[in-house]
Amino acid sequence: MRILITGAGGRLGGELARQLQARQHTITGVDVGQMDITDFERVQQTVAEVRPELVLHCAALTAVDYCAEHPDEALAINGYGTQAVAQACQAHDAALLYVSTNEVFDGRARAAYQEYDRPNPPNPYGYSKWVGEQLVRDLVARHFIVRTSWLIAHGGQNFVHAILSAAGAGQPLRVVTNEVASPTYSRDLAAAITALIETGRYGIYHLVNAGHCSRYTLARHVLDLAGYTGTPIEPITLAEYRRASCPPPRSILRNFAAARLGITLRPWQDAVAAFLEAERLREP
Ligand SMILES: NC(=O)c1ccc[n+]([C@@H]2O[C@H](COP(=O)([O-])OP(=O)(O)OC[C@H]3O[C@@H](n4cnc5c(N)ncnc54)[C@H](OP(=O)(O)O)[C@@H]3O)[C@@H](O)[C@H]2O)c1
Repeated sequence: MRILITGAGGRLGGELARQLQARQHTITGVDVGQMDITDFERVQQTVAEVRPELVLHCAALTAVDYCAEHPDEALAINGYGTQAVAQACQAHDAALLYVSTNEVFDGRARAAYQEYDRPNPPNPYGYSKWVGEQLVRDLVARHFIVRTSWLIAHGGQNFVHAILSAAGAGQPLRVVTNEVASPTYSRDLAAAITALIETGRYGIYHLVNAGHCSRYTLARHVLDLAGYTGTPIEPITLAEYRRASCPPPRSILRNFAAARLGITLRPWQDAVAAFLEAERLREP
């Protein structure tokens, strides 16, 4: 398949480009330097030139606290920018896969969220991503919406890197116990997305590693696996952790739809162990 990836320099976009190339798809990856998604003309021109059968739309403003402080910028990139990508897909008859987030849900449900549950974003990042979802649904008939959570990727910064570097530097660790979701390894997510697009079964999907945990449990698990078993972590609540954004407290995504297609992801504990092992092998 001829595929255009937006946000190809990012954590998920880069992994997708690698895995799809290995499966003989023809990949064109673009980032903000080649195609700013808020530039309508540029997006139209790029899609006209590449003539993709599918656009994998990974570009986004993902720093949630920055989004809370700059809600219009979040909306301009994640909402309006996604509109430009969707309109280019419409004009050039390309299918569209939009990557979305657990943060479209408010996190107040006791049960896991199904693909078909009604979003109610609790913060400006989640709101901007929900706007993007609606534009994709309204403008492109052949679309996938893939929601995921707590991405753990090689390169760049993520929660696991932050915990390990704080422990390595001997800094005190304070981690919240009442924010719960599913950690998701970027390689597992990219493999699941690859399998999903090859089915051609458009729709809404939740793709996360199986199971869920609190940030505190994840941090403890990572430290124990990495040999910091004696390093203490002070348990705190979301109310004690001052930050600009307000995350959903309990946003567990249930993979109902993709499982029907035989697409499931391994338990998060195995994924974290695989991630740490791959990081160890990457060390010089
Ligand atoms: N990370 C997570 O935990 C998580 C969880 C759930 C869902 N998601 C979703 O998954 C997708 C991929 O996330 P990720 O973690 O791979 O994000 P990422 O590493 O932040 O990558 C996003 C990419 O988009 C680019 N970008 C930003 N503004 C742009 C613009 N105006 N035009 C074109 N490109 C632009 C960024 O370029 P610069 O770096 O140069 O700005 C970056 O390369 C996003 O849609 C995100 O909302 C992520």
